[in-house]
Amino acid sequence: DEKEIPKNQQREDDEETMNLISSLPSDVDFDGKKLFKYQGCWYNDIILQGILNFQRGFEPQDTDIVIASFPKSGTTWLKALTVALLERSKHSSSDDHPLLLDNPHGLVPYLELIFQTSKPDMTSISSSPRLFSTHMAFQTLREALQNSPCKIVYVWRNMKDVLVSFWYFKCAILKIEEERSMLESMFASFCRGVINNGPFWEHVLSYWKGSLEDPKNVLFLKYEELKTDPNVQLKKLAEFLGCPFTVEEEESGSVEEILDLCSLRNLKNLEINKTGKTARGFDHKTFFRKGQVGDSKNYLTPEMEKRIDMIVEEKFRGSDIKF
Ligand code: A3P
Repeated sequence: DEKEIPKNQQREDDEETMNLISSLPSDVDFDGKKLFKYQGCWYNDIILQGILNFQRGFEPQDTDIVIASFPKSGTTWLKALTVALLERSKHSSSDDHPLLLDNPHGLVPYLELIFQTSKPDMTSISSSPRLFSTHMAFQTLREALQNSPCKIVYVWRNMKDVLVSFWYFKCAILKIEEERSMLESMFASFCRGVINNGPFWEHVLSYWKGSLEDPKNVLFLKYEELKTDPNVQLKKLAEFLGCPFTVEEEESGSVEEILDLCSLRNLKNLEINKTGKTARGFDHKTFFRKGQVGDSKNYLTPEMEKRIDMIVEEKFRGSDIKF
């Protein structure tokens, strides 16, 4: 029976994956969940299974674009901006614009989630070029892309704001009040580096090095710069993706139009983002909060801030990364 062969193959692959995962160093996250260290970063078993399937089975296309980030660093915004850039000639601001019909996470799926099954149906990816996203570290992503000239765009953000954003998000998806005790245990995990996709600094440095080695294919963006200088950053992104704004477009306000469409205020108020849910069951609205630089000041104690500042200072010493 022809169908038996792939089934057996799948079973063998799953077994191999489980064996590999159980041989890795392990530790526990702030909430007691087990994490495994793979290629320098920590992941839970479900995500890791997706990563291993991805590394084994992904077939890159030269035009693929991957949006990468540490969680809560501006992923949703970067996804929206990328979609809006690529769609601009097709839709401008008409009613059938993809951003009005789906949340940015529905439009740009995570590779580690697509590959929860070892042989996913990639024909359902409708965007052209194909748009993917990931929270895995650079070396892990790169391994699967091999020598493909895919474009990788990374966004990173101040570690303190990432921590507070993550705390809010976690409470929102658990539908609980924001508890200080949870912030404190998350803080401890962040500082130890034992957190899903962490250590934070390893993650950021992996893409920073990647962008230095291969600037044509890896773009390193900063959330804070996107906030202070959105026009410049959007034009940089458009050039990097090979779709620069023409003089006519710039004169007709196309840059501002995209920034308005993708602004936190606008996205948050779209019907699709007020009511919908992602494939993982997260309310779309949980991805849009304040988007304020330095908001963590309102929640972290001076001691917590100092500890993070010291970690950041030590771990990023020698890089030209500016905070
Ligand atoms: P805050 O919790 O600090 O408000 P991610 O998209 O990686 O999950 O990151 C979520 C953070 O990005 C949240 O930060 C959220 O409010 C902010 N964000 C979401 N959409 C945004 C947008 N269009 N512009 C600016 N920030 C945005």
